[in-house]
Amino acid sequence: MLSTIAQLRAAVQQALIRAFGEAFATTDPMLVSASNPKFGDYQANVALSLAKPLGQAPRAIAEQLVQNLDVAELCDPPSVAGPGFINFSLKHSFLEEQLQAIRIDPRLGVEPLGAGKRAIVDYPSPNIAKEMHVGHLRPSVIGDCLARILEFLGYETLRISHLGDWGTPFGMLIAYLREAYPNALNDDSAINLGDLASFYRAAKRRFDEDTNFQDTARQSVVQLQAGDPETLKAWGIVCDLSNQTNQKIFDLMGLKPLILRGESFYNPFLSDVVAELDRLGLLVEDQGAQCVFLEGFTNKEGKPLPMIVQKSDGGYNYATTDLAAIRYRVTEDQVQRVVYPVGAEQSNHFAQIFQVGKRAGWIKEDHDFVHAPLGNVLGEDGKKLKSRSGEAARLKDLLDEAWLRADPDLYQLVCEQDWEAIALVLLEEPDWETAAARLSSDESLADNVAALKKTTIETVQRQVPIWLMGNEPVPSVAQPVVANIRQALEQRWVENRGLGAERSFQSILSDVQAIGISAIKYADLSQNRTSNYVFSYAKMLALQGNTAPYMLYAYVRIQGIGRKGGIDFSELDAKSPILLKEDVELTLAKQLLQLDEMLLMIDQDLLPNRLGQYLFELSQKFNQFYDRCPILQAEEEDVKTSRLILCHLTAKTIKLGLSLLGISVLERM
Ligand code: ARG
Repeated sequence: MLSTIAQLRAAVQQALIRAFGEAFATTDPMLVSASNPKFGDYQANVALSLAKPLGQAPRAIAEQLVQNLDVAELCDPPSVAGPGFINFSLKHSFLEEQLQAIRIDPRLGVEPLGAGKRAIVDYPSPNIAKEMHVGHLRPSVIGDCLARILEFLGYETLRISHLGDWGTPFGMLIAYLREAYPNALNDDSAINLGDLASFYRAAKRRFDEDTNFQDTARQSVVQLQAGDPETLKAWGIVCDLSNQTNQKIFDLMGLKPLILRGESFYNPFLSDVVAELDRLGLLVEDQGAQCVFLEGFTNKEGKPLPMIVQKSDGGYNYATTDLAAIRYRVTEDQVQRVVYPVGAEQSNHFAQIFQVGKRAGWIKEDHDFVHAPLGNVLGEDGKKLKSRSGEAARLKDLLDEAWLRADPDLYQLVCEQDWEAIALVLLEEPDWETAAARLSSDESLADNVAALKKTTIETVQRQVPIWLMGNEPVPSVAQPVVANIRQALEQRWVENRGLGAERSFQSILSDVQAIGISAIKYADLSQNRTSNYVFSYAKMLALQGNTAPYMLYAYVRIQGIGRKGGIDFSELDAKSPILLKEDVELTLAKQLLQLDEMLLMIDQDLLPNRLGQYLFELSQKFNQFYDRCPILQAEEEDVKTSRLILCHLTAKTIKLGLSLLGISVLERM
């Protein structure tokens, strides 16, 4: 089926041909939603842009178009307004027909415009010698969402994580692995390095303490680059550990599976890439380095800026690797489209590699390589979000805290307990002063006993929901407290969440987790991806406003109507008519019919916040409908059925929309 806007567009295109001839067959009708509902539903602005080429007044052009428009089926007679806008008001009968059509369409009226094309979304591409931090929230969440949308639009979509898995940062970890776990290299059988965080911390402590160790670390980098088998093996172990740690976080976030194709993957191609640039005459030697001089980029003195692709010591860099990736994606993956949701601070990098990719002939006319720049996540102080100890906040901590706070009872109970003694035991320290002194290499914590105490206690608190979930063993010192919390929660949940016959403790806890994680993802997705935003648990978890809980709740409310009326929505008679009588019904209907045009816009500008905004408005319009129109109590049977159909379509649209954002609906809250 054709969406509403597509049908209108086709009609205006016909009118253009009839009025002004075939030459205007491809003129864009410039059709947009009406700036004000007072003027109708849509407006075409094409008359204004034709004034020059036609040498006529825009109003006169608009009048001629209106005379040639054949839209009687779709809307009331169009009118010309202002300098030459053409306004359209959709007919109720047309809206009813369109709704009937999307009712039986599993795609809810969305055209698969990407069918037959292949796309890559390059995300979240962390540097894996370190733990993921707040900087990885946006690429993960937005990358996952864009990939879901492109996939739904029909593109065969590859999710490729361009991991920073090579080079200097690995030296320290490799050296530490060899020293602390000498058996790891000979014996593959389960050597437990613990988690990356503690492994990294231990390695860093060693590195800071001992200058000999620093030399060993540097040698390891040289050996790694020279392809020494044993070093490569150690490197592989560290990468595996890191990828496993990260995968747990991705699972918690509900990301779709990624293809791990890090920088190291392109090592074999780097010399080729440079040789090809040389053959093409693009290379210039500058102070011993091989460079491509960029067009449109200048240095401080106004001279053309070089992009180094091979350093004077023969080594390659981030840009060379990305060029190899471009070439590989075009020639081997055969993609038409590549999207890089990466921090805005890398805008120059991407503009430069795309330029070189084009000049080298890898990126052709019909390829679409775009950087989708991302803003930063800020703390209340307006600076990049930090943890208490002053480093970038760990991604895992943010997720766990969102989850802890997603149930006010859980949060309150956890905060009430006395964690200090437990935290010390878990830290394996006699007191906080000793702990702070011993952790001296943990930079900012050293002289800040209070901060260490607070951070440690918070870390333990964040673990509580995980312990309650039963996926990880509870350390014996914490067992009594955790058991108490569970008991108290059970009591409260019997009263306010229907714990007992209906629902199990575990299922409620899973929902709490889902709400927390959805909230943090949605808070990110609902912001324009190019701007910075201030991170706030209170805001993201609020039941009112443009939040995940608000949207989830709208869905739950509809399921509640079904349960209350003993209705299975999917069983509603496919032939029974949709009747749009009340204003709130019309408003809801129009919103339901705009899913397609909204997704087409995202296809162009890659702004997922459009989808969030759309769903927010849909939920609001649904709530207005729900407040004003009796549903189960409707007087006439056909009105009741029609309203139930509207409920069902709204629920399906919210469910689909949220799933494209990477959020699963809940059946009850
Ligand atoms: N690893 C990089 C970083 O953490 C991001 C890589 C983005 N993707 C790419 N193809 N350059 O900054």
